[in-house]
Amino acid sequence: MLMNRHLVKPDDFSVEEINSVLELGMDIKKNPQNYFNKCEGKLMATLFYEPSTRTRLSFEAAMNRLGGRIIGFSDPNASSVSKGETLEDTITIVSKYVDIITMRHPVSGAANQASAVCPLPFINAGDGGNQHPTQTLTDLLTIKSLKGDLNNLTIGMCGDLKYGRTVHSLAKAMSRYSGIKFVFISPDELSMPKSVKEDIDGVEFIETSSLEDSIGNLDILYMTRIQRERFEDKNEYERLKDSYVLDMEKMDKANKDMLVLHPLPRVNEISVEVDSDPRAVYFEQAQYGMYVRMALIMKLLGID
Ligand code: NCD
Repeated sequence: MLMNRHLVKPDDFSVEEINSVLELGMDIKKNPQNYFNKCEGKLMATLFYEPSTRTRLSFEAAMNRLGGRIIGFSDPNASSVSKGETLEDTITIVSKYVDIITMRHPVSGAANQASAVCPLPFINAGDGGNQHPTQTLTDLLTIKSLKGDLNNLTIGMCGDLKYGRTVHSLAKAMSRYSGIKFVFISPDELSMPKSVKEDIDGVEFIETSSLEDSIGNLDILYMTRIQRERFEDKNEYERLKDSYVLDMEKMDKANKDMLVLHPLPRVNEISVEVDSDPRAVYFEQAQYGMYVRMALIMKLLGID
């Protein structure tokens, strides 16, 4: 049962629980009209302490499509944080007003801290360079819908594997399915953290800096943005920012049924010429994100 639970990192849910969210997400996508009133009378808070377009809007679209309502902020300077209120106090107060809370925060671990005092279902919408479990649900629903299965896949993750929270969450979540192999493609400076590699224990992975050499072996290529805002040394960002650019020349080396995913926003890492290739599914992926968030909200509120 997912009612009243928190989602801070993907393994807060069992594989069966994740699959149940994905099943519901698929049904919502197929029959959206059956879900228009499911959250009537329910209120969700979206507390965004860090910029976001997709995640916040897809949560808001999700709740609105379920007939629920939203309060919140997208600029912490407009809230009492600017007066020095603690995160714990903000969560405690907001929980008196709403039925479910979703929060994005620039500090790794903030979601854990907030969920610990939250008496309502709490959703981590990204905490610093740590985790982004609802992006992972989005990725899983996209892969399951378009590939038909989450097992037996070779998944390449390319770009900023050090600071990219989406790939930390996705690696952990995918490692729980069977027949999974990972290819971690990054510059040495931005390689997958040791803690994530330890967390996917048992799953085979290769580390490389070459996208050209590995693209031909992949079922999924998950591209990521170099996370400028997390670099302490801006010169290092400048040096690494264009490490990978996926273009048609590289796509020509890929399998004809490989899928290209990206959590977005994209900067330079995928050239626009790739957008019209049928294997490029990142815009569709953003839409799956709305459906899976509808499913998640329903499950956490105990509405079926
Ligand atoms: C990602 C994030 O915020 O971590 N974006 C998103 O949620 N769609 C990826 C990113 O910002 O690069």
